[in-house]
Amino acid sequence: MARPYTVIFSTATIDGRIASKTGYSRLSCEEDFDLQHELRSWADAIMVGSNTVLVDDPSLTVRRSTGISPIRVVIDSKLRVPPKSKVFDSKAPSILVTTREWDEKALKPYTNRGVKILRAGIKKVDLVEALRLLHGLGVKRLMVEGGGRLNYALLSRGLVDEIWITFAPEVFGAGVSIFHGEGVDGEQEKILLHLTKTKTLCGGWLHARYSVIAPRLPLY
Ligand SMILES: NC(=O)c1ccc[n+]([C@@H]2O[C@H](COP(=O)([O-])OP(=O)(O)OC[C@H]3O[C@@H](n4cnc5c(N)ncnc54)[C@H](OP(=O)(O)O)[C@@H]3O)[C@@H](O)[C@H]2O)c1
Repeated sequence: MARPYTVIFSTATIDGRIASKTGYSRLSCEEDFDLQHELRSWADAIMVGSNTVLVDDPSLTVRRSTGISPIRVVIDSKLRVPPKSKVFDSKAPSILVTTREWDEKALKPYTNRGVKILRAGIKKVDLVEALRLLHGLGVKRLMVEGGGRLNYALLSRGLVDEIWITFAPEVFGAGVSIFHGEGVDGEQEKILLHLTKTKTLCGGWLHARYSVIAPRLPLY
């Protein structure tokens, strides 16, 4: 299947949490923000899950690096993300990926704001189809900015090429994991990664890059 080259970018505690049990997620430092914006300006599109928009209301534009802001892509099966969210403003193009359940009337509040709609799947967004459709629209380089459920769903379907994680020197003990899903059994099913780079940021944050060498399941 033709799909974008896909890189997950995340900032986590050393216990692998990207948000605390109350949804607190301010973990980046200045150099980490710089890397995030560099990767944004590399990408043709940035993808996020519906919960991330509901909790953080990010704008997902490039502000710390040169280059134009990529297309913002929101994965939302149930149209829970409000049309007035920053991710749908006019600062960059936006795409809402939802299911085939919704008719034009339900989608009008989004299309009225200039948001392009893609339909993939029936009850839940089919991510394989979503990436194929995005590729067809010219998205060759995709950055994913979470959250944990979207990260895991993409990784476990063999749709991720690289993972960039910055570990903040903090512990949450509970909350949303970088990869949050049904999990694997162990030896037979584990997802294998190859460490390609490490770097210390801000004197105490550890940035690590991995390429995905073996997904859990046979590729689509
Ligand atoms: N530290 C960081 O780097 C960082 C980055 C991003 C987010 N965060 C934090 O992470 C938290 C949100 O993470 P999250 O895991 O709860 O949510 P998420 O991954 O942002 O969104 C998950 C939601 O996406 C929707 N979705 C639609 N189709 C899907 C599919 N095929 N697979 C998976 N999800 C699909 C589902 O809702 P519907 O069924 O309603 O569509 C699902 O509940 C927030 O607290 C945010 O602050 C932290």
